[in-house]
Amino acid sequence: MKIILLGPPGAGKGTQAASICDKYKIPHISTGNMLREAVDAKTKLGIEAKALMDSGILVSDDVIVGLVEERISKDDCSSGFLFDGFPRTIPQAEALIERNIDIDAVVEIDVPDEDIIDRMSGRRIHPASGRNYHVIFNPPEIEGKDDITGEDLILREDDKPETVRDRLKIYSDQTSPLIKFYSGMTTNADLMYLKVSGTKMPEEVTSDILKGLEG
Ligand code: AP5
Repeated sequence: MKIILLGPPGAGKGTQAASICDKYKIPHISTGNMLREAVDAKTKLGIEAKALMDSGILVSDDVIVGLVEERISKDDCSSGFLFDGFPRTIPQAEALIERNIDIDAVVEIDVPDEDIIDRMSGRRIHPASGRNYHVIFNPPEIEGKDDITGEDLILREDDKPETVRDRLKIYSDQTSPLIKFYSGMTTNADLMYLKVSGTKMPEEVTSDILKGLEG
């Protein structure tokens, strides 16, 4: 199963990815997490990407496509994968088609902009694993600590309200055209396009997605 999770920053893509990957036994491929790992490791890519990411600007299509291509060539992707945060532009989506990578389902998580800003200020992440929490909607067992390792949780640099507004604008300009691209796709007749509301509680959103995917 090859699935794309589409939705604005903070829609809950990372939150939902865990349950979907668990159900279909496929790896979670988050380009955001891959870039953050490169930033932490201070690789050349990480150093270049950091300034862009901190201001919510997209990393270049060539770099991202190269990163994804390398990742999906690994053995654990042989029976599928879930893309979270990729593709994010029409050229990235076209790169998949050029490489004959047929997607089975695109899941759009729809959340209005006004809800996103509140969500982001409450998000806390565990940098090493990418696990995310919310101080109200999905709190860790011990405040400020990761449930699995007990390590400190942090607020992401790009979750400041002013940066979130910029990221929403970039989503609207550069990523939302993918909604029409995939929902109206005629070249892949088998593609399932599923739109769910991301404003319910996380477990209800999961249930809507899994039911929808089972068709
Ligand atoms: P990335 O890490 O992909 O960020 P994003 O798409 O902006 O998405 P987020 O991770 O912010 O949100 P999410 O939808 O996963 O929400 P979450 O589940 O955490 O990208 C970061 C940067 O990397 C980009 O700005 C760009 O610079 C670069 N980049 C990455 N991919 C790229 C690409 N393909 N091309 C170019 N550049 C790229 O949920 C958010 C919060 O809400 C959490 O606290 C969560 O607990 C809470 N929550 C979740 N669901 C619910 C719910 N139903 N109700 C209430 N709260 C909820």
